[in-house]
Amino acid sequence: MIRRALIDDIPKIVQVEKACFSVPWPDFLFKAHLHNPGFVVYEKEKNLIGYAIIGDADGKAHLQNIAVHPDSRRQGIGTELLEWCMDLVRLYGYREIVLEVREKNTGSQLFYKKKGFEERGKVQDYYENDNAIIMGRKL
Ligand SMILES: CC(C)(COP(=O)(O)OP(=O)(O)OC[C@H]1O[C@@H](n2cnc3c(N)ncnc32)[C@H](O)[C@@H]1OP(=O)(O)O)[C@@H](O)C(=O)NCCC(=O)NCCS
Repeated sequence: MIRRALIDDIPKIVQVEKACFSVPWPDFLFKAHLHNPGFVVYEKEKNLIGYAIIGDADGKAHLQNIAVHPDSRRQGIGTELLEWCMDLVRLYGYREIVLEVREKNTGSQLFYKKKGFEERGKVQDYYENDNAIIMGRKL
């Protein structure tokens, strides 16, 4: 089930974040997004196993974060979260979605390509130890 993130979800979200990223977001960054209807979690049998955050960047929908716990990957959960986000921003009238992904994160790039995203450019040293690939697609 995909539903809006709540304050009580934050500790579990941070646990998943730590399992997914070498430089995880701290809890206050997630708290700062709680006002956003595009901050959602994926729950299965009361376990929180994924989340996504979509917002606005210069008039384009911007996927700010998406993650699925390593034990639950390759079961279509990331796809469900991404599609949920795309449906939401389509409702708001957005016509394009963009995101940044680490250049070394080739698995996620393949995930986005499968969902119709294409490379739009590269930002050198965007992350502390990596470049960012900008990806986007029409909605
Ligand atoms: C990216 C992520 C959210 C995908 O979640 P997921 O639930 O595993 O994705 P899905 O099961 O919906 O994958 C759909 C398709 O995307 C592609 N894909 C997903 N992960 C992939 C990987 N690591 N390598 C290659 N292709 C991949 C596959 O084609 C897959 O279909 P298949 O399993 O039938 O082959 C997940 O790998 C993750 O949390 N990664 C760590 C966090 C991260 O890097 N987030 C993105 C930051 S920009």
